[in-house]
Amino acid sequence: MSRSQWGSRAGFILASAGSAIGLGAVWKFPYITATQGGGSFLFIYLICCLVLGLTLMATEMALGRAAHSSPIGAFRKLGNPGWALTGVVGVLVAFLILSFYSVVGGWTVAYLVKSITGGIATSIDPKHNSEAFVQFITDPWSPIVYHFIFGLLTFGIVIFGVEKGIERISKYLMSLLLVLMLLLILRNLTLPGAWEGVEFFLTPDFSKVTKETWLEAMGLSFFSLSLGIGIMITYGSYVDAKSNLISSSAWVIGLTLLTCILAGFMVLPAVFAFGFEPSAGPGLTFITMPAVFASMPFSGFFATLFFVLLLVAALTSSISLLEVMVSFFIDELKLSRYVAGIISFALFFIVGCTASLSLGVWDNPAHHIFGLNIFDFLDKLTQNILMPLGEVSLTLFCAWVAWKSHLAEQLFSSAKLANLFRLMLGVVVPVIIVAVFVVNVIL
Ligand code: TRP
Repeated sequence: MSRSQWGSRAGFILASAGSAIGLGAVWKFPYITATQGGGSFLFIYLICCLVLGLTLMATEMALGRAAHSSPIGAFRKLGNPGWALTGVVGVLVAFLILSFYSVVGGWTVAYLVKSITGGIATSIDPKHNSEAFVQFITDPWSPIVYHFIFGLLTFGIVIFGVEKGIERISKYLMSLLLVLMLLLILRNLTLPGAWEGVEFFLTPDFSKVTKETWLEAMGLSFFSLSLGIGIMITYGSYVDAKSNLISSSAWVIGLTLLTCILAGFMVLPAVFAFGFEPSAGPGLTFITMPAVFASMPFSGFFATLFFVLLLVAALTSSISLLEVMVSFFIDELKLSRYVAGIISFALFFIVGCTASLSLGVWDNPAHHIFGLNIFDFLDKLTQNILMPLGEVSLTLFCAWVAWKSHLAEQLFSSAKLANLFRLMLGVVVPVIIVAVFVVNVIL
């Protein structure tokens, strides 16, 4: 059976970028950069995206195109059922990520509602904004209601099969998000004290680099590029034989990096100008942006527009995660799309509730796992442990098991380049990932 294909190469690149660009770039990247020391983190993150990210994304796409199949099927077809376990772990990771992703998606919905009703863009006072944020996320009910709304939106889009429609409009909305971010950056740079933030963001201070910086940068590069769970394998399975996968990956990575860097310029200078705490953690974007809006004319309008666009970016990512779960239930357990959707929604909603509560009423040692609250545990477990391990398995599989199954010619026409790439894939990349992993997690 021939698989349906993307309408065009641009359609394929934009759909992959839609999955990649989301809360990872706008919410996670600024706060991790701030806690990990600024410029030096940016530098290491860029290396991870360009060296590891490019190799891995192109390989995932090539595997999908060579096998013409979803991740589990691809591992089974070009390897054996044992390797399919990598695909199954990918489904589990998609589920765990979606659980806390939907909670943060819910924060976005909440801030959108607050922008419309005039509840947020009122203060440039750091204390007021962080108290408002903490009060919101520690409330037992309201973040869960918004988590449900975000989950329901994701569920609705996937179940009613309107992803294509969303993708079509999302490219306009995502471009608008980038333009709006540029505008907000221009506003920020004229604030007194903003340059301190620019310097912090761009000047590497390598004395701040620790082994953890490498783990966070590597994990974030996988997270922000939607790698490590086989999403790009699925996308690659719909690509026509002519599209160049290396340059397609470079496009997706370039667009994601652009968004991350704009997000950095949008948040960090404001953090310094308004005197916020750079190490505020996961709330950084949500605490800082209201102050930016408060310092502008038409603050309610800009705040609303920003959170609508951020919500669209988050949804185009969350639907790619939910699709992984839903296709698993359909293909492996032969469930209908609707039932598969309901089960997936129930699972990630419940685990998401525990993550949300762990930031408030359950934030005590009795509810900690390895010393972390459930939200942080899910985040670290997926980003810094399961995704790197998934990628090691993928690299070894592709370089040493499936390479002969037409993988090389998906990527290069020259045999020399293909061999070089194989060395990178089968030795260099897994050694780097394992080294960073072992130094941090095991030693
Ligand atoms: N990349 C998305 C973001 O940054 C999140 C995401 C979607 C993701 N699909 C993924 C992360 C697959 C890891 C793996 O918002």
